[in-house]
Amino acid sequence: MGLYPYVDRYQVERSLPQAGRDRDEILEEIRAMSTIEDALADEGKISGSIYSGDHQHYAFLNEVFGYYSHANVLQRDVYPSATRFEGEIIAMTAGLLHAPEPCGVVTSGGTESLMNPMLVYREWGRERGITNPNVVLPVTAHPALDKGAHYFGIELRKATVTDQFVADMTSVRSLVDANTVALVGSAGTYPHGLIDPIDSLSTLAVERGINLHVDGCLGGFILCWGEALAHPVPVFDFRLPGVTSISADTHKYGFALKGSSVLLYRSPELRRHQYFMAPDWPGGLYTSPGMSGSRSGGIIAATWAAMVSLGREGYLRIAADIFRTAAELRGIIGRHPELEVIGDPFFNVAFRASATDAVDIFHVNDYLVQHGWRMNGLQNPPAIHFCITRPNTAPGVMERFAEVLHAAVGYARERAGTPPKSGAAYGAGGTSVPREMVQAGMSGWLDATQSLPPA
Ligand SMILES: Cc1ncc(COP(=O)(O)O)c(C=O)c1O
Repeated sequence: MGLYPYVDRYQVERSLPQAGRDRDEILEEIRAMSTIEDALADEGKISGSIYSGDHQHYAFLNEVFGYYSHANVLQRDVYPSATRFEGEIIAMTAGLLHAPEPCGVVTSGGTESLMNPMLVYREWGRERGITNPNVVLPVTAHPALDKGAHYFGIELRKATVTDQFVADMTSVRSLVDANTVALVGSAGTYPHGLIDPIDSLSTLAVERGINLHVDGCLGGFILCWGEALAHPVPVFDFRLPGVTSISADTHKYGFALKGSSVLLYRSPELRRHQYFMAPDWPGGLYTSPGMSGSRSGGIIAATWAAMVSLGREGYLRIAADIFRTAAELRGIIGRHPELEVIGDPFFNVAFRASATDAVDIFHVNDYLVQHGWRMNGLQNPPAIHFCITRPNTAPGVMERFAEVLHAAVGYARERAGTPPKSGAAYGAGGTSVPREMVQAGMSGWLDATQSLPPA
């Protein structure tokens, strides 16, 4: 859609308007833009991102949000309901992931739920005299962990992955030393939706007396239903003794509004490491559990409402559709010898060009893009993924995808040897463009996303 598609349609506010604008006119603009932007997701043509897509569910959550949108949950005495909501969100999530006790925090999203444990494990190491801590994790782990390491001065040691694209335990073991404070594994990984060998990571963590964070930001709230639905999802949660924390995003498969996630700890002692206290401040005894200061009660109330309104039965129903659709998708991809699925995924299916080398996967993606299908581009190796969410499970969506994928493979075969369009953007980091140029381009993109369109 481009960065500034509305520049010709609406006035660009280059400074605060002198007189306030009419509310109806504002709502009309908002409605028009959001309708355009939701259309692809509503047709089931988007990978990931929009997890529920049920507009009645959203309307209900928005109503709940409205009651508390203005509430600052930092003021606990004024809004004790927030304490109820947070405690219950943590307890419900702890139950799903078999935590020994309901101990955690509600955060603003996956990134915060990954950065906090990095801080916690650094502090845990400090208590044990480790001043130069490192964390060992596979290359497929989410970059929010790199961000945490960058912010908190932790060395990250990246392990390789196996030919099944999950953490290679030999590589993990070779990187652990006396300064390792934690290991990380994902359930499942963002790129390929795969589950690292959490049981082996757990064994290693116990053996070394160190911590293990499981990144279930993407997969926690969907994979936890696998067992009940008789899918062979391996145990990845607190039932494994070495797991000391798990992140699971309510704003993904928890079907809450954007801006919420749950981070669970095995013990209150670990959680305490992320608390911040400023007891001498003239403004009073200041304390906050995580990175944010003021937080909206609306998100917390809506997250709670999403969970209790769906209940186990609601989640199971949607999860069954998602597991079924992902299996169907694997079958559709499997019809093409030019393509191969990466690893053995349950809900997020990554695929690449097979060793036949008959197609470039980004040519396949080019065709999908031209027909309104928005996959996610991957690199190292070049691939795309289709992360199945509720809108993709609607009747007819997979049939339509089968048709467009068949045509896309034909299109890609015809163009073999020519440069694809989407590859330049998605694949550049992994090909011949120097890393510095890629980073310069990425910085420019971030500048642009926070700027006005050119005058
Ligand atoms: C595995 C995994 N971890 C962490 C994150 C980060 O979550 P957020 O974008 O909510 O910060 C994501 C996001 O897609 C993810 O897939």
